[in-house]
Order: sequence, then C-alpha cells, then structure tokens
Amino acid sequence: MSTRTVIRGGLVITASDEIHADVLIEDGRIAALATSSTPAAEAFTAERVIDAKGKYVIPGGVDAHTHMELPFGGTFASDTFETGTRAAAWGGTTTIIDFAVQSVGHSLREGLDTWHAKADGNCAVDYGFHMIVSDVNEHTLKEMDHLVEEGVTSFKQFMAYPGVFYSDDGQILRAMQRSAENGGLIMMHAENGIAIDVLVEQALARGETDPRYHGEVRKALLEAEATHRAIKLAQVAGAPLYVVHVSATEAVAELARARDEGLPVFGETCPQYLFLSTDNLAEPDFEGAKYVCSTPLRPREHQAALWRGLRTNDLQVVSTDHCPFCFTGQKDLGRGDFSKIPNGLPGVENRMDLLHQAVLDGHISRRRWIEIACASPARMFGLYPKKGTIAPGADADVVIYDPHAEQVMSAQTHHMNVDYSAYEGKRTTGRVETVLSRGEPVITEREYTGHAGHGVFTPRSTCQYLN
Ligand code: URP
Ligand code: ZN
Ligand code: ZN
Ligand code: ZN
Repeated sequence: MSTRTVIRGGLVITASDEIHADVLIEDGRIAALATSSTPAAEAFTAERVIDAKGKYVIPGGVDAHTHMELPFGGTFASDTFETGTRAAAWGGTTTIIDFAVQSVGHSLREGLDTWHAKADGNCAVDYGFHMIVSDVNEHTLKEMDHLVEEGVTSFKQFMAYPGVFYSDDGQILRAMQRSAENGGLIMMHAENGIAIDVLVEQALARGETDPRYHGEVRKALLEAEATHRAIKLAQVAGAPLYVVHVSATEAVAELARARDEGLPVFGETCPQYLFLSTDNLAEPDFEGAKYVCSTPLRPREHQAALWRGLRTNDLQVVSTDHCPFCFTGQKDLGRGDFSKIPNGLPGVENRMDLLHQAVLDGHISRRRWIEIACASPARMFGLYPKKGTIAPGADADVVIYDPHAEQVMSAQTHHMNVDYSAYEGKRTTGRVETVLSRGEPVITEREYTGHAGHGVFTPRSTCQYLN
C-alpha cells in the first residue's frame, strides 16, 4: 500500500536553492515539490502531514567518514552500527559511509564480509562502505575491480600507522593505477607515518608522555609533505585523489595548488578541526586524551585556512571521522604514553548542528552548509541524487530543522555510546526536530521512532564529482 506524506510550509534548502515549498513523499521517495501558493500544493493530500512552518526542510546529512566498531589500538570504537546510526539520525544524518577493513594477510572480501555482518539488520539509517586497503598485492588489486562493481567504489590507504594500516609509495601507486582503470577513488590518510614514529620515539625518550605531545610530533609539515606526495603519485597514476581529514593550512595549500593546475584532487575536513584546537589537547589531568585523533588538532590559526578552503571549494566535504573511544577504560590505555591513546573523536551526532552554527557565525552560507554536508559527499561517493538533495525521485531522506531552537551539547544528552562529548557545554542554535529515512519517521518531534534494521546497505556508483 502506498503511503503519502506531505511536509507543509517549510523553507526547502538544497545546495542550489532555497524555496518555500510543500514536499510530497510517496513510497519512500520525493514525489513532487510545489510552492505553497500554487494549486498543486493544495492538491497534495496525504495520510501524514508534517507542519514545517518556520522550519527548514533539508536533505538528510551524508556522513562519508565513520568508523563504527573499528578495532584500533587494542580496543574497539565504542559505537556499534546500531548505536552509531541511531545517534546519526538524532543529529540529522541519514546516510553514513563506514570503512570496512582489510587486515594484513587477508583478502578485501573477508574484510567486507565482516563489515556487512556487523551492519546488516542493525542500522537505523542507510549505509555504504569504503574499503581500507592495508595489503596491496596482485589478488587485492583484482578484488578492487569486483568491489567497484558491487558498489564499494572507494578505497582508503594510509601513509601513517606503520605496521598497522600503512602502505608504502609503491603500494599506493599500484592501487592508484588500478583505480585509474576501474573508476575507484583513492582516499588518502596523508601523514608521513615513518617520520612521525621517529619523533614519537624521541619525545617519549625525553619523558614527553602527555596527550599534548601527540599534536606536537604529528607535525603540520608532515601532513603537507604526505599530501604533496599523494597528489604527485595520483598524477603519475592518472587517478583522482580524495584526501581525508585535512587539518593543516599547509595541506590545504597543497590541495589548492593542485586544483589550480586542474588536477582531480579533492579534500575533506571535519568539525573537530574547525571548532577545536591544540588548546583542547593541552587540557590538564589527561583530559587532553579526549581530543587525540589523527591527523591531530592544530593550533587555532589553522582554522581560517579550513573555512576559506570550504568557501572556495578547495575543500569539498565535511565528514566526522566519527571514531569514539570512552575516556574511562579506552583513552586510559595511553596514560603515561600518548602514543597508546586510541585515536579518534565522537561526532556523528554533532556535524549538522555545528555546521549550522557556522552559518550563523558567518563562515558559510546556508546552501553551502547543505552542499558540504549532504550534496557534495553524495556526489563524491556516487550516491547523488538518490541521497543529498530534495528533488523528485530522490529518496525521502528529509530533516525538519528548527533554526531557532537553542541547545547545549553534552554527554548527558547525546545519543552516541561514549562517555564524553568533544563539545561539552558548547551552545549552538538550530536543532533537528523530525527525520525521515526513505519516508519513514526515524525521529519524530525529538523522539526516536526508528528501528534497527530499517537502514540498508546502499551500493554506490563511481565518483560523480568528475563529470
Ligand atoms: O584518529 C582517527 N582519525 N581515527 C580513525 C582512523 C583514521 O585514521 O581515520
Ligand atoms: Zn585516517
Ligand atoms: Zn577515519
Ligand atoms: Zn523501517
């Protein structure tokens, strides 16, 4: 039986337009939009009517970088696919793209099967996968072709974390050459991990063990150097490149220069780099451990370059890199040795609100908010226009957003399975009120009305940002 929903009277915001319109939803998809004054709008009848007067009607967020249940540093990221996708919905995100992991000595297939098993039947909202490639060999390269055909069209490689996920330049070049042929997109963790490990050892030998030294050894120059090298390797391979979690001014400059040369090079940053800094890493009593992630938080001066990059489109996407570890029992593993603190920050629930605050603070426009949080990630990773916009035929992943409601971010009230908030006490204006995923209410006037298993695996086409 077909179910019709109409969202009446809101301001519909997409990456390209802002219009007062009613939105008709049928069978889980957007059926039509009509400006509120036209006869067509009056003709919209439906079983469910949502009043959006005074509210924004925006596409559900697309978070292209999450790590639910990631094994890392001797423990696991504390959000499961069930808790993490529920928290995503609370924060107005209706699609996540998580990273399946190939372990060294195993196939991509084994890694992907493991991640499917973790997610299947557990998610509140839709999800896709990227594949972390940690062992490039003839077999892996062939498997990349099959994954692209199955809708896993992007592959993360690491220039950091020697002995764990690390790939050397030869392995990177080979994977890039393959992706140039099969249409895959290489996503790069760009930090010179070999040099960083030397600096880690030297810092620890000097007795510099506190969390703030994590930021000091993972130097901006070593992010810039790796970004530069990744760009040149991609150029040699004739492949596009997407650099994840860009945090340093010098790295943005590398991307901007490459783009000025016309290279298909893209960049992502994350809210933690836009709103937090090394001041947080320096918090006393080991509290700085809450902010240990890689690339690391930078001195506040770097934020201007990131905001500028987002405005000039030298950076295209804001994802969270959501990778939560509890302060008690997990971040603790690195007391007395910062290099043993599991890397990662929670944030899947906070991204849409923080970026709305950035609109109010004058950093970006409302449409750019939707572009960097919804439309661009969808286009970058082959989900557009099914995801990332409000247009006839698109999935009805829609958020009713109250732009005037005030909130205070806190671990007391958030829904992520982690015992602290990276933004504890931060006041923001704007709040998610109702969330539809394929037309189904997942959050209804700030109550969870979704269910585990509603979210399904969503195969992706290749990068749409190139055409
Ligand atoms: O610190 C981080 N970013 N943890 C997650 C793994 C990664 O490198 O993205
Ligand atoms: Zn990374
Ligand atoms: Zn990550
Ligand atoms: Zn359902």
